[in-house]
Amino acid sequence: MRNNPILIAGYILGAFAVGGVGLVAVTHALTSERIAANERAATLRTMAAVLPAGHLDEDPLRDPIEVGAPDLLGGATTRIYRLRRDGEPLALVLDPVIPNGYMGPIKLLISVLADGTLGGVRVLAHKETPGLGDKIELAKSDWILGFTGKSLGNPPEGAWKVKRDGGVFDQFTGATVTPRSIVQAVRNTLRFVGEQGAALYDRPARTPGES
Ligand SMILES: Cc1cc2nc3c(=O)[nH]c(=O)nc-3n(C[C@H](O)[C@H](O)[C@H](O)COP(=O)(O)O)c2cc1C
Repeated sequence: MRNNPILIAGYILGAFAVGGVGLVAVTHALTSERIAANERAATLRTMAAVLPAGHLDEDPLRDPIEVGAPDLLGGATTRIYRLRRDGEPLALVLDPVIPNGYMGPIKLLISVLADGTLGGVRVLAHKETPGLGDKIELAKSDWILGFTGKSLGNPPEGAWKVKRDGGVFDQFTGATVTPRSIVQAVRNTLRFVGEQGAALYDRPARTPGES
């Protein structure tokens, strides 16, 4: 019975199964840590891109809040990072999603400095047509840099439109829909921050378990 080859084969198989599961568990733990670290580094890099030099505080990802403001920030929940220095407001970084791009939703990253001016805007994700609407990407054109330093009063609110609609922002040849929706979304984000003001910095971060 003791030397039953079937039993021995069973033990060997069992040992391999346990070892295999252990190996997968360890690899998963190591990989998910690395993925989380990579995601954090990527978020910080993108955040730095929409902020003036020196505006990242010591822990920019510390206490994000999530807000739902469908009229001004699109249908999805928007995450807002609050940056402070010595306890004083420095900048808000928001990731609103425009539901009405030409080809689908467009995800933006927008920073609004404490004085109400835009630190910068970048497109995080979009499905706009290559050669037409995709000039919103910095890799394709510098159009998106035109928002830096602007605010609700500069240009005046009525001029927050593409030139074809009587505003100050360029449209693209043969593609007005995409830039129009971005200009409107950036203006609405400024309106949202203007309406909420300092309350956004004061709002407590969500605690675990809060729905
Ligand atoms: C296949 C196809 C893809 C298009 N993709 C876009 C796009 O991504 N963004 C955009 O604004 N317009 C796009 N357009 C153009 C729009 O239909 C529309 O004509 C344009 O945005 C209006 O601007 P215009 O008045 O300068 O032509 C596309 C048109 C076609 C036929």
